[in-house]
Amino acid sequence: MRTVTVTASGVVEVIQVPDPTLPDAGSAIVQVEAAAICGSDLHFYEGDLPYFPVAVGHEAIGRVVEVGADVRRFAVGDRVLVSSVAGCGDCVGCQTRDPVACLAGAKVFGAGELGGAQSDLLAVPAADFQLLTIPEGISDDAALLLTDNLGTGWAAATRTDAKPGETVVVLGLGAVGQCAVRAALALDLDVLAFDPVPGRVAMAVGSGAKAIESDVVAEVMAATGGRGAAAVIDAVGHNNTIDTAFAAVRACGTVSVVGIHDLEPYPLGILMGVYRSLTLRMTTAPVHRSWDELIPLITQGRIDTEGIFTHTFALDDAAAAYAAVAERSPDCLKVKLVP
Ligand SMILES: NC(=O)c1ccc[n+]([C@@H]2O[C@H](COP(=O)([O-])OP(=O)(O)OC[C@H]3O[C@@H](n4cnc5c(N)ncnc54)[C@H](O)[C@@H]3O)[C@@H](O)[C@H]2O)c1
Ligand SMILES: [Zn+2]
Ligand SMILES: [Zn+2]
Repeated sequence: MRTVTVTASGVVEVIQVPDPTLPDAGSAIVQVEAAAICGSDLHFYEGDLPYFPVAVGHEAIGRVVEVGADVRRFAVGDRVLVSSVAGCGDCVGCQTRDPVACLAGAKVFGAGELGGAQSDLLAVPAADFQLLTIPEGISDDAALLLTDNLGTGWAAATRTDAKPGETVVVLGLGAVGQCAVRAALALDLDVLAFDPVPGRVAMAVGSGAKAIESDVVAEVMAATGGRGAAAVIDAVGHNNTIDTAFAAVRACGTVSVVGIHDLEPYPLGILMGVYRSLTLRMTTAPVHRSWDELIPLITQGRIDTEGIFTHTFALDDAAAAYAAVAERSPDCLKVKLVP
């Protein structure tokens, strides 16, 4: 089969590898119908996480083509979405339906240990836990967002603990930030949104956010009577966005980080944080748990999932697709690869 592989910083190749086989009786093989490129894949592509070669991709929908003898909830032919984060499915941690809590350690597809989802076929361990039949009323784009980005945005927003009417800032308006904006609006928060790419700010404004034009801290202070925001979401993953978040959040507020930082440690000012009674939340998407909350919000029309996917490429054109996403242009926000 074909699998998209980052072989060096800035180099994407579609290579032939043997088809995956069932790793154990609880696993399934999914024939990928569409796989998305995430900002997290770009960390390999852009050399922030220089582990090469790596078969990439962790956001996929497709059809079950093989199941192990112990798989109970799925059969060949089922159309499913695959959680980007995987747990063993059996332990007390996985019982919380947050794979990050798995006692065996959460694993992410397309990061070395598990296969990459930007492939013809994907082996899925603990399939009864990791898979979800694509529900009635959920479009393919929505299903792809439920594998990762929407659960991430939802966790980013809910974990601000902000109350309806309070001001929340979203820094970074890629697909994750746009999902965080939409989630925060569904929670009736007052959302201020910033990205250096004006077209991405315009998209967030189209969803109902208010624009921050350039000076985040000054504009947040102006909008909150000098108090600061109840919470700031970092959907970028740079030291300077954390700095900005701490400067724009009010005393007793929350900084909610979902952006993936590089390998350099951030110099956290504990004195400043204690003095101002700040809360720092850092979150990997609790994907499985988010499905129960998000699916009703999508089907009731309270969270719009349209418009986030802007481009579709053939799997064979993955190199061009990565180059397009990495430009962070106003029009190319998120890309689907179709095998
Ligand atoms: N925690 C999780 O579970 C999880 C899940 C998915 C993605 N992520 C991470 O979330 C981050 C965003 O993902 P994405 O797919 O939206 O990526 P992306 O690269 O498409 O979006 C990042 C956005 O940040 C903007 N940006 C750059 N510098 C900025 C600054 N100083 N202030 C404000 N905005 C700035 C860019 O213009 C871009 O629009 C990535 O780091 C990704 O790895 C985390
Ligand atoms: Zn992702
Ligand atoms: Zn587990």
